[in-house]
This record gives sequence, C-alpha cells and structure tokens, in this order.
Amino acid sequence: MDRATPYDKVPYTNNAHPQTHIANLYTLGRIFGLTPPPFQRCRVLELGCGRGGNLLPMAWEYPESQFLGIDLSQVQIDDAQHSAEALQLRNLHFCKQSIEEFANNHGAFDYIICHGVYSWVPEEVQEGILRILRDHLSSDGIAVVSYNTLPGWYFVRALRDMMVYQEAIFPEASDRSGQARLLLTFLKEHAQDQNMREFAAREVQILTDRPDNYLLHDHLGDDNRPCYFSEFVSRAINHGLQYLGDTMVKTMFVHNFSPEVAERLSVLHNQIQQEQFLDFIANRRFRSTLLCRSGVTIKNSLEEIVRSFAIRFFMTPQQEDLTEGEPLPTERSFVSADGALLTVSDPLTIALFDTLAKQNDKPLFVSELVQKIRWRFGIGDAEGIHHILLNDGIRLFTAGLLTFHADAGCYTTEISAHPQALPLSRYQAQQSNRVVNGRHQMVALSAEEATLLQILDGETSWHTILQRFRQQQEKQETDQENDNTEKIWLERLHHLAREALLLR
Ligand SMILES: C[S@@+](CC[C@H](N)C(=O)[O-])C[C@H]1O[C@@H](n2cnc3c(N)ncnc32)[C@H](O)[C@@H]1O
Repeated sequence: MDRATPYDKVPYTNNAHPQTHIANLYTLGRIFGLTPPPFQRCRVLELGCGRGGNLLPMAWEYPESQFLGIDLSQVQIDDAQHSAEALQLRNLHFCKQSIEEFANNHGAFDYIICHGVYSWVPEEVQEGILRILRDHLSSDGIAVVSYNTLPGWYFVRALRDMMVYQEAIFPEASDRSGQARLLLTFLKEHAQDQNMREFAAREVQILTDRPDNYLLHDHLGDDNRPCYFSEFVSRAINHGLQYLGDTMVKTMFVHNFSPEVAERLSVLHNQIQQEQFLDFIANRRFRSTLLCRSGVTIKNSLEEIVRSFAIRFFMTPQQEDLTEGEPLPTERSFVSADGALLTVSDPLTIALFDTLAKQNDKPLFVSELVQKIRWRFGIGDAEGIHHILLNDGIRLFTAGLLTFHADAGCYTTEISAHPQALPLSRYQAQQSNRVVNGRHQMVALSAEEATLLQILDGETSWHTILQRFRQQQEKQETDQENDNTEKIWLERLHHLAREALLLR
C-alpha cells in the first residue's frame, strides 16, 4: 500500500488561480501572437491539482472541454472527485498519479497547468514536469508553470532555514506552524540586524492571512528549490519549449520601471536577459511563466484582439461623475489603486475610459463599448475607438492597468428580481466561507453572506427571500436588525454581485 504523502496528512487549501484560467491563457497566447486552441473546446491537464479547486470552475464553465487533474495525494484526489460528482461534471477526471509516472498514452493537451508544484518537488519531478510539457503539449498549446524565484527567495530562504533548524531542535512540538510563526515574530522584534527585522516583519505580514497548511508546505516542506528565471527558461528550452511571456504582463516591460532602469536595460535586446535584470531589481520571489513549443509561428494579432476581446479597466475617475447629455470636460484624470495617473483630453478618449470605468470591473466587449459611448455621449465612430484602444489601450495593458478577455465571464454584477448564485460557489458555501467567483478568484464571505449565497437559486424572488429573513428575525425576537433587515440583506446581495458571484 502507498505511503501517505505530506498532503494526505495536511491537505492544502482548495484554490482557484485566475492567472491559470484557460480563457486567460488563450487571451495571453493571442496577445503574444499565437493561435491557441479555443478554450471552449479543448483538452486541459493540471499537474499537482490538489483538491481540484482550479479545474472545477473551468469544467463547469466549458462543458465541451475535457479536463484531467493528477496529484500524488489520495486524500486530495478523493476530495476533488467527490466535488466533481456532486456537481455532476462529466468532463472532468481526477486521478491519483505521480508526475514521474505519467503514462504516455494520455495524448496531447491544449493547456497544461502546473501551479505551486515545481519549486516544492525533487529535481527528478521537476524534470518530469518539463518532460510532460515536451511530450503532451499540443502543437499550438500553452503551458503555465509557477515557481519560486531568486534572488527574492534567498531572503525568504534565510528565514526558512531558521524555522527548519528550530523544528529539528523541538521535533515533538505539536503546533509546528505556530512555532514557526512565533520564531518569525521573535526575529521581527529582536533581531539585531535591521535588515533581518525587516525581512521577518514582511514575512509575518505575508503569512498573516495565509492558513497554517500554506506555511507547513510552502515554507517548511522538505523540498524547496527556488531558481533564477533565466535558469528555468534554459531548462524549458532544453525540453523543446520556448518562453512566451509572464502572466503578470506588466513585469515584462522595462518601461514600467524608472526611466533610468528603462534606459539601462533597453541596451539588452534579449527579452530573457531584460526580465532577469528586472527580477534582480524587483527582488522577485515568484513567477508564473507561459511556455509554448519552440518553433511555433508567432504573428502580430493586436488589431484583431482590440476588435474582438472584452476589456476591463482598473482605474477610476478622479473628478465627479459626468452627466450624460452635457458637454464633455476638456480634461479628465483616472487613477489606479496603486496611484498611477492617466490624464486624457481628447473627447472620445475621455468618453471611452469613463465608460469602461463605470463597468464595476465587468469586462465589456468593444462592440458594447461603442454602443454605450454613443448612448451616453452621442459620439464615437467604431474606427476611432479601435484606434484609441490600439494605442492607449495596449500601452495601459502593458502597464497592467487594463486587461483583455476572450471570455467576459458568465457572471453579472447587476441584481435581478430572481438572483442566482454561481452553482459551484453555492456548493462550496455549504462547506466553507471561501468560494470561487466568476473571475476565478477565491472570495472570503461572512457567515451571513455564505448563507445568502446558498439561497439564491434563481427561482425564489428577492422579495420572497427578504420576507423569510424578516419572519426569522421576528421569531428570534431580537429588535436589533429588525428595522434594517431589508437594507442589510440588500447590501449583502450587492456585495455578492460586486464580488462576481451571481450568474448572468
Ligand atoms: C503546494 S500544493 C499546490 C496545489 C495546487 N496546484 C494549488 O496551487 O493550489 C502541491 C501539490 O503537488 C502535489 N504533488 C507533489 N509532488 C507530486 C508528484 N510527484 N506527483 C504529483 N503530484 C505531486 C501535492 O500532492 C500537492 O497537492
């Protein structure tokens, strides 16, 4: 009988990873000039899929695509299979299998995902991952592999070594993660070296919201092998693969750094070398790298993307709302969450970005955008809008302030008379308050929001749901919420809508 793995003893949190979503991989592939297979009808493989949290939402969204997840941990695979059966997903299969022994008869996959595995396995398993990509990625397919990078991980490594040393001294300690957290706090407060105090403080901060299983596996697991980006790419090249790009596109471009950095690094005409230097400067510690087969044809398709993809804009207007029908201002500024500023003065550009900013984070197809601009401001020829998007839009995309989407998602941020929650989120809310949303992100809900999510079946009207809450409130005879019941539950419903948890 197989021995229990560390993940059988302490299973990992069930996660979805938006950057690995197949529609995102397809979109990025198109932007980087590939012709990837359509995500609505494709074959997907995930290596080290854990409890299936990443594949389950995609299998539900794209019933004509086929998904296979493998993992070494029987406990996690059982959990994943249980969820797939409960959701009656026939296009999704989970299998307890090691990466090294992946059978050669599985055929080709259009998208291969390997998130949070590469840096935590022995070298031969790392080789196995790259071998699977070499042997099983379809000719136009895309793989995404994430890993810890140097030099950033050298700094974390010092802290990890101390935690591992402490464990060796106190092998009987029952609360391993608690002990490790205590050590970090001790260093944060008492290390004589200021750098060490700062590293420890930053790690304490990062780990505050992370569960114990994260600390136990990601920091204290036996295998921990960060590497340089350039080393990873060289290894991939040796396996017949090529670097396509990073899932965090803005990290690829020198112009997103200071003018001095941009000037110095622009003398390097090699993308890998430039990005390696950018990792030095950013002290980067983690990457999600996109790979494709070497030799695939790359053609510029930005024009087509701007015409046919949906757009999400991450900036908000600095000035007050524009009134429809009134003349547009001569200038308008938009600001991002991290303080980046965009000031535009051309009327069509103002109308375009203002309309995008009003979408509550829901991607908007360009055809819808053209219509909305016309409806709001009575201006705008489609060609003028395409032109702005090809210039300003692409520039904002490379700066991480705007994203393109081949699929705008099956969720709505608006509220209907019969609201319906995403089925998978409703299912997950029965077991945990962390659920996946329509953007493939994990969302933490309050107990009340999780209850509400389970009730939203698309058949019961919001009016009836409110009546039930009012009756319950009366039974409990607590006046506290009574007067405000309607307002409070409506705000909770709005929160679920904003978090992309309602079905369109
Ligand atoms: C840190 S977890 C990541 C899980 C999931 N991919 C995620 O990011 O949420 C690493 C996973 O890799 C699996 N794993 C480790 N070694 C493996 C191997 N040799 N073959 C298959 N799976 C393996 C573990 O069981 C575990 O589920």
